[in-house]
Amino acid sequence: MSPMCMYSATDGMAGDFHFVHYVSRAQGGVGLIIAEATGVEPEGRITRGCLGLWTDVQKAPLKRIVDYIHQHTDTKIGIQLNHSGRKGSTLSGKEVAPEDGGWITKGPSAIPFQPADRIPEVLTVDEIRRIVKSFGAAARRAIDAGFDLVEIHAAHGYLLHQFLSPVSNQRKDEYGGSFENRIRFLVEVVEEVVAAIGNDKPLFVRISGTEYAPDGGWDLEQSVKLAGILKTHGVDLMDVSSGGNIYDAKINPYNAYQLPLAAEIKEKTGIMTGTVGMIEEAAMAEEILQSGKADLILAGRALLRNPYLPVHAAFEAGEPCFFPVQYERGKP
Ligand SMILES: Cc1cc2nc3c(=O)[nH]c(=O)nc-3n(C[C@H](O)[C@H](O)[C@H](O)COP(=O)(O)O)c2cc1C
Repeated sequence: MSPMCMYSATDGMAGDFHFVHYVSRAQGGVGLIIAEATGVEPEGRITRGCLGLWTDVQKAPLKRIVDYIHQHTDTKIGIQLNHSGRKGSTLSGKEVAPEDGGWITKGPSAIPFQPADRIPEVLTVDEIRRIVKSFGAAARRAIDAGFDLVEIHAAHGYLLHQFLSPVSNQRKDEYGGSFENRIRFLVEVVEEVVAAIGNDKPLFVRISGTEYAPDGGWDLEQSVKLAGILKTHGVDLMDVSSGGNIYDAKINPYNAYQLPLAAEIKEKTGIMTGTVGMIEEAAMAEEILQSGKADLILAGRALLRNPYLPVHAAFEAGEPCFFPVQYERGKP
């Protein structure tokens, strides 16, 4: 299950909704859930309803979900850690002003996401270093809460992606300009998270394989180069999505449209990849897996519609799959 923001937390804390939501998908036979984008700092949330792991009290309600899933289902569960940067402080996609309960947004450069948006403040190097530490501390809390893996969100135009892209990052210091400088923040976050979670917990990084810039933006060639570097820093899998940093990018989605990005990264670097995007049927997921073009197939909206998608597919194919023992008499 692909990470999907549910905007239903209070002060970053998971509640009953999250318990029902994630446990239902585990009962439906999902092999791996990656829980939604979770703020590593309060200002790193996209909305006030986003989950957070910036403080220890936020661990307990997540641990309750993780423990239940581990004790009662076959599902593994990870969590996606995020900082929203210039795309934070929103509600239903619209900006929320600080006086209305939002906050001042910051990014690599004083460039808004959309021309009419508030201009973000420029992060200082000290603030960048603090956010690196916040990713590490949140990752540690995720492991304390029992999560099986951590995913760093460096896609969809959020803070780490903002640094990768020359469109949003026009800094003149060691965090901007050359490719090496633009990836520095993400590499430092990866190092901090690896130090926090150790080598035996898998680490995924979600990137936008391309941001569809007409010219000069973040693209597949740089993604390949980045993946090769992150592999040497202990990243186990690149979860390859696309877009999100250029508000008027032309994107033409179709079934598995992001697979060529994952396939090229895998082919050129040998790192494991995940693919996501309009892969809605088990047969298509299996075909991609067998083709060897990606190692992990993620589904998003199809699992919002139907939490029992994997179980249904297994029943149809006559294959074994986890099914709650209480529901045994419902088997076809
Ligand atoms: C409601 C919703 C919330 C989302 N939130 C996140 C998120 O927190 N992190 C992320 O990386 N992607 C997020 N996405 C993107 C999905 O993870 C996924 O990449 C996208 O929906 C395409 O896959 P699909 O066609 O299977 O839905 C979200 C998508 C939806 C529909």
